[in-house]
Amino acid sequence: MSALPPREHVDFLVLGGGVAGLSFALEVAGHGSVLVLTKRQRSEGSTQYAQGGIASVLGTDDQFELHVEDTLVAGAGLCNREAVEVTVREGPERIRWLLSLGVEFDRGAAGLHLTREGGHSRRRIAHAKDATGREVERALLAACDARGIRIVEDAVAVDLITSGKIGLGGPSRALGAYVLSRDTGAISSVSAGVTVLATGGAGKVYLYTTSPDVGTGDGVAMAWRAGASIANMEFYQFHPTGLYHPQAKSFLISEALRGEGGILRNAAGEAFMARYDPRKELAPRDIVARSIDAEIKRRGDDCAFLDMTHLPKAFLLEHFPYIHATIKEFGVDMTVQPIPVVPVAHYMCGGVVTDLMGRTTLPGLFAIGEVSCTGLHGANRLASNSLLEGLVFGRRAAIRAADSLSDTTGPTPPIPDWNPGDALAPDEGVVVAHNWDEVRRTMWNYVGIVRTQKRLERARTRVSNLRTEIREYYWKYQVTPDLVELRNLADVAMLVVECARRRKESRGLHYVLDYPATDERQRRDTVMTLGDLEDAR
Ligand code: FAD
Ligand code: SIN
Repeated sequence: MSALPPREHVDFLVLGGGVAGLSFALEVAGHGSVLVLTKRQRSEGSTQYAQGGIASVLGTDDQFELHVEDTLVAGAGLCNREAVEVTVREGPERIRWLLSLGVEFDRGAAGLHLTREGGHSRRRIAHAKDATGREVERALLAACDARGIRIVEDAVAVDLITSGKIGLGGPSRALGAYVLSRDTGAISSVSAGVTVLATGGAGKVYLYTTSPDVGTGDGVAMAWRAGASIANMEFYQFHPTGLYHPQAKSFLISEALRGEGGILRNAAGEAFMARYDPRKELAPRDIVARSIDAEIKRRGDDCAFLDMTHLPKAFLLEHFPYIHATIKEFGVDMTVQPIPVVPVAHYMCGGVVTDLMGRTTLPGLFAIGEVSCTGLHGANRLASNSLLEGLVFGRRAAIRAADSLSDTTGPTPPIPDWNPGDALAPDEGVVVAHNWDEVRRTMWNYVGIVRTQKRLERARTRVSNLRTEIREYYWKYQVTPDLVELRNLADVAMLVVECARRRKESRGLHYVLDYPATDERQRRDTVMTLGDLEDAR
């Protein structure tokens, strides 16, 4: 837990301590020195808030082909079949691995109790009540402690160090990262044989999101600035059901509630989903979120309602104790009243492009978990496939990284210390707070569930102006965690807008009124690299 020295070298530098980063660390331990960094407390990240569970073929009525097919259907033509196949086929072994680490999944009469979520043709979600992520994160951290894996908290990676940036010849490769201590404000240089991005998503780029505060897209922004390819950022997933309550910070109401029979109603009490899709409440997530959005707008309501009151109280308390207790604090008792819900930003389907072993296009750099774009999710992620992806690709990347360590080490090139230049002490926190709010509001208003080319152009102008202002501030003042995050949020916002502008069709999560149909000629990933944006820096 102790702070970082000003400079150090490790074999494996892992940025992020969620399901992906910790899986990688556990698999690679024993092949070299491992350092895991987390931006805040070590358990803080999306993983520990995951509710529904982990999708995998575990039931006697299930088959790999069905899980593959459900994933491909949700992904709306953009999944990489190979990525889907390996994820699905390696899933059951990963669940057994978690069991071996002591994860307490719920059990039924014939093995694990499996719940159901939208887009799944079978019950296949292994879960620990309605707080699966908390149990998984607990077990992974305990396993890391038992293996003596070093985890340093409050250590904010600011930027990747690449051979290109420090002026070494040859093709650029990742050499580690500059890391800011939240406690001391000091910046360390950590060089590494292999650098792994496991930094999670970027929900904070939107005003309303289920993401915890660490979800500011740092990994995508750092990788993009370092020259790695980024793809499919237009596909930001909105979860259909965030709690609608001014103080609730978009608390998630798990899809598992619909899986167990929850009914979506409008403010007049009418069950409306049949009007939008024959699969009703269990249609894929993009469809349910858009249907709720359309229904709310059609009627001029503030929210929709998820009705669980027809289910026995004992069943609800047994299956959803965490959600029940949390929303009760906000005055909502789901056993007797419908839950007010609205769609909120939830998951980044795009990210840093990787191959099937987690390698990015920048040698020496791996990306795993939500920060990556492996091809599993395509244009829309199937529910509960992301913890699974973190587990599968955490292991795959570890196997490849351990193998490649011998090619990537050799004498460590000298890494220059962080150069603060003439940076001044930050004087106007309000500038950061104001720009932070403006980026998120712009994205919410102009780059949400339903888009138009005109709104995207407006967003582009605004985000571009904000980036200019933020860049000036960034180079003038000393770096703080808030400033690091703001800069990253603005870069990620720009990547989402630019990817969205380039896709002139509607597909999966990207729905544009100007191009409402899917155009098979555009069935390809939207890939962005540094040179694609004229104002990139
Ligand atoms: P995270 O768990 O988000 O961890 C990111 C880590 O990166 C953190 O340790 C953070 O501190 C660190 N980090 C970030 N930036 C930096 C930096 N600059 N420097 C150093 N460290 C950094 N998926 C499912 O499959 N099933 C579910 O039931 C489910 N429920 C969900 C419920 C909620 C409320 C949310 C928000 C998501 C849910 N998801 C679910 C999605 C899933 O939880 C995430 O996609 C997954 O946990 C991401 O894991 P990760 O390891 O990639 O990142
Ligand atoms: C949920 O419990 O609804 C979240 C599942 C997911 O995001 O995969």
